[in-house]
Amino acid sequence: MHLLIATCRVQVLRSDPSKGEKSAYSQYDVPRTEETSVLDALLYIKDNIDGTLAVSYSCKQQRCGSCALKIDGRVALGCFTPVKDGQVIAPLPGFAVVRDLVVDWTPYERKMLDLLPSTSEEPNRRRRAATEKERTLAESAATCIRCFSCVAVCPSVDITSPVGFAGPAISVALATYMDVDESSGGLASSAMEAGLEFCTRCGACNTVCPAGIDVVASIQGLQDIAGESGAKGKALKEMVRGYL
Ligand code: SF4
Ligand code: SF4
Ligand code: FES
Repeated sequence: MHLLIATCRVQVLRSDPSKGEKSAYSQYDVPRTEETSVLDALLYIKDNIDGTLAVSYSCKQQRCGSCALKIDGRVALGCFTPVKDGQVIAPLPGFAVVRDLVVDWTPYERKMLDLLPSTSEEPNRRRRAATEKERTLAESAATCIRCFSCVAVCPSVDITSPVGFAGPAISVALATYMDVDESSGGLASSAMEAGLEFCTRCGACNTVCPAGIDVVASIQGLQDIAGESGAKGKALKEMVRGYL
């Protein structure tokens, strides 16, 4: 049993765009123990104060990635962040708000599905075996919980343009294919289509990732694979090198 420490007051940014509502902060007082997370506080509000509050969550254990929010100006998982007095809670930036703290990831997920290579592509043609480093990157990328926190902080992502940067979460999804030797032809073309040259290596994605994935290294690994895959890939690699 956890002892109540105090009641704390939080501000939650709320809106219902379907009704043409502008967003506005609402203030709530919630009980807090040393174990209470931001998500716990939001669910307390929903269950005890205002059942209309829209919140996205599933596992409550930092596994499903659905509770990413902007908390006191920083992107973080609601279930992994302790609630504090005076906290300001807003939806994940960079995505359209559905209602309150729920955002629409669909366009980004659609782009991800479009870019993922087909493992059945070139079934009888193997490239060189994946390197140890590529296997390690693929293993790490597989721990992605698809919270899209990295996308929210990325200054370069642009999925509205066909030649824009698909962003860090798609890059990590592509990196999971690095240890699938047969798919490398498809992976190289997906990597080239992902606009990786527009990544500035600012590292914001690495800093925010709750799974500790080295997103920047994943992008570098994909660029290397693209660079090995013919003239267009080589040109891309040279361009990236010149950029660094
Ligand atoms: S390092 Fe690249 S992918 Fe990561 S946040 Fe910066 S620009 Fe985006
Ligand atoms: S790479 Fe990290 S921050 Fe990005 S979606 Fe995956 S778990 Fe979230
Ligand atoms: S509720 Fe699943 S990661 Fe927070």
